[in-house]
Amino acid sequence: MNNNPQLNKNGELQHLLTTEGLPASILLNILDTAESFVGVTARDIKKVPLLRGKSIFNLFFEPSTRTRTTFEIAAKRLSADVVNLNIAASSQSKGETLLDTVNNLSAMHADMFVVRHSQSGAAHLIARHVRPEIHVINAGDGRHAHPTQALLDMFTIRRYKRNFRNLRVAIVGDILHSRVARSQIHALTTLGVPEVRIIAPKTLLPAKVERLGVHVYHDMAQGLKDVDVLLMLRLQNERMLGACLPSSEEYFKHYGLTQEKLALAKQDSIVLHPGPMNRGIEIDSAVADGKQSVILPQVTFGIAVRMAVMTILAGN
Ligand code: CP
Repeated sequence: MNNNPQLNKNGELQHLLTTEGLPASILLNILDTAESFVGVTARDIKKVPLLRGKSIFNLFFEPSTRTRTTFEIAAKRLSADVVNLNIAASSQSKGETLLDTVNNLSAMHADMFVVRHSQSGAAHLIARHVRPEIHVINAGDGRHAHPTQALLDMFTIRRYKRNFRNLRVAIVGDILHSRVARSQIHALTTLGVPEVRIIAPKTLLPAKVERLGVHVYHDMAQGLKDVDVLLMLRLQNERMLGACLPSSEEYFKHYGLTQEKLALAKQDSIVLHPGPMNRGIEIDSAVADGKQSVILPQVTFGIAVRMAVMTILAGN
C-alpha cells in the first residue's frame, strides 16, 4: 500500500501531478522512454499508433504557449484524438464548477486530462475525483508544481551532460512563486545531483527552502562559480502579491544573466529557461541566443517527454 496519490496499487504511475515523492526509477523510465520518441519526432512521418482511439482533453485555465502546444503535438504524434477546451468560450463563464466540467467531459469518454490551473492543487482535485481508468497530468498548478517541465529539463541536462553525477546545478531567480523551481528541485535531488544551488534575493525565496536539500546564495558571483547547469526563472509578476523588488532594472543588474556573469560558471556550462523569457530582466539576449543556451532544444525535447508520460500512463 502506498500513500502517493499519483501511484496505483502496484506502485505504477496513475497520474502525473508532481515530481515530489516519485522514485528515481519512475523518473528515469520517463526519460528513457522519451529517448525512444526523439527519433519519431525527427522522422518525415511523425506518428506512431500507441494511443490510437484514446481521447485526450487539454484543459488550460491559464495561458500557455509551450506546454499546451507540445502536449497537443505529443498526443497527435501518438495518434490520440485531442480536444483543446476553449475555456473562455466554455460554460465556466456561466458558473459551472471545475468538477462539473470534468464530469461532463468524462461522460464524453475522456481517457486523459492535461490540466493547467492558477490554483495549486487543481490537478490533484481532479485526479481524486475521476474514475480510476482516467489519467490526469498536471501541466502547472499555481506555485505548486510543473512536473513535465522539470522532466524535460532533466532530459535536456542528461542529453548535454550525459548523467546527473558530479553536477553542480544552479536555479536562479524567483523561486518563491515558481512551480517550475519546486519540481526541478525534487527531480534533481531524486536523480542524485550532488549539489543544487538556488540563487535569489531574500524576498524571492520560500521560507526554510534549505529543507529541500539546496544551498542558498544571494550573490551571483558566488552562486555561479563552477556551475555546470544554469536553470533561469522568470519573475512571476502575476503571482506577486506586493512589491518584492525595487525595480526590474535593479533586478537585472544583480540577478540578470549576462555573458559577464555566465563566465563565472564552467566554460562548458549550459543555460536553460522554461519560458516565457523576459529579455533584459532575468536574461540578456546575448545569453538567451548564445552558444551555451539550450532553451529551444528544451522545447523540442518537451514533445518527446510528453509523449513518454502519456504512453506510460495509458499503459498503467
Ligand atoms: N514553460 C511553460 O510552462 O511555458 P508556457 O507557459 O508557455 O506553457
